[in-house]
Amino acid sequence: MATFQTLPGFREFYPEDFARRNHIFRRWRHTANTFGFSEYDAPVLEPLELYRAKSGEEIEAQLFSFTDKGGREVALRPEMTPTVCRLVGARASALKRPIKWFSIAEFYRYERMQKGRGRCFSQFNADIFGEPGPEAEIELIALLVQCLCAFGLTEQDFHVRLSDRDLWIFYLEALGLDEARIRAVLVAVDKYEKMGDEAFKPYAESFGPLDGGLKAKILSFLAIKSLAVLEQTVANLDGGRLGARLGDWKKLLGALAAMGLARFVEVDLGVVRGLAYYTGFVFEAYDRKGELRALAGGGRYDDLVEKLGGPALPAAGFAIGDMTFALLLEQRGLMPDFTQAPDVYCVIGGEAERLAAFGDIQALRAAGHRVDYPLKDMAFGKQFKAAAESGAKLALIYGSDELAKGVVKVRDLTQRSELEVPRAQVLATVRDFFSGA
Ligand code: HAM
Repeated sequence: MATFQTLPGFREFYPEDFARRNHIFRRWRHTANTFGFSEYDAPVLEPLELYRAKSGEEIEAQLFSFTDKGGREVALRPEMTPTVCRLVGARASALKRPIKWFSIAEFYRYERMQKGRGRCFSQFNADIFGEPGPEAEIELIALLVQCLCAFGLTEQDFHVRLSDRDLWIFYLEALGLDEARIRAVLVAVDKYEKMGDEAFKPYAESFGPLDGGLKAKILSFLAIKSLAVLEQTVANLDGGRLGARLGDWKKLLGALAAMGLARFVEVDLGVVRGLAYYTGFVFEAYDRKGELRALAGGGRYDDLVEKLGGPALPAAGFAIGDMTFALLLEQRGLMPDFTQAPDVYCVIGGEAERLAAFGDIQALRAAGHRVDYPLKDMAFGKQFKAAAESGAKLALIYGSDELAKGVVKVRDLTQRSELEVPRAQVLATVRDFFSGA
């Protein structure tokens, strides 16, 4: 017989896996609410055009795309950013500012599979629209850090690497590079950490090899890891623009320090982000040990809403992926054990007793208790074994002797104690037991 398996890179969620995913989503959602972000969602299938030349070549090459029955070119969403730009752009004038939105959704990229990377994954996206200054990044980076700390992770476990495409562009312009060359250098910088010198090959293929002095300057800019060094490096260059930009850096880092978050955030000009639409500050979160792929990434994208047909509207945001994040929680022992035990297990004599038990089962469930019972008649011994294995704290015993006396036996499965309770008091007894009365 043929067996069918999931497509490579796709995931199935058995109940324990689903409980772990729910746990993560629930805390992300709660955290976003505490920051005053509102939740939205959108279609999984989008016009292919939404991603062409907007998300960048890497994502475009990874699209799951096809022509639908109406002849439309469509793609499964690889990311949320173009979609949320369309949503906000369409109602920009009616939306109350600042627009702070978040979503938790599934995405699809035809990627080479590796640890922490699949072809189908979930992201928590948070974005702010309508705020041109670093005030948006302050709020976003604080939210990103809290979304990770909410699970017990600390600055020992992860850090946020902060960089700036504006500064990179001003710097490369000051070195005399034109727009096309700047774009090619940024692609190389994005890949440099992973590939080393190889990363500059595409640049060399288009424009010839980079001049040695220029390359040295680019590599030393890329290695900058502090605001002080950054200030020194740009001090002698095109003063005006670079100086003003450093003011934004100080505001951002000062605010994060005031929030007590400085220990999570590091200046790191080696980050430029692969996606094409970023225009200013960019940041990525990584595990401290550097063993895993990126946990999260984001930045400013001031031109995208307008490019997608909306009004000119500054924007910034980030996304955390669920796969690397779950790996990190597991590595640090921070993923709780989700055994789904009932509160109460009912042990039932026979068909007549079953009908009596049903009334209580229904009432207990309606009162919010998790109640289980054997779906079919079963010997008492087997039922007690099932009750113990279920992890329930209480067993309710509906035997014919008990029912003849108008009582139910309530057995505390952890203390191994037992008492008889009049039928009318079963609900109150269970409620008192679980409220600790
Ligand atoms: P991204 O860096 O492509 O950014 O993805 C963000 C995060 O999603 C990554 O750091 C990673 O955790 C996760 N991720 C990405 N691809 C995969 C994959 N194939 N398998 C597993 N996890 C993956 C964006 O998507 C931007 N749209 C984020 C953003 C929001 N920028 C502004 N607003």
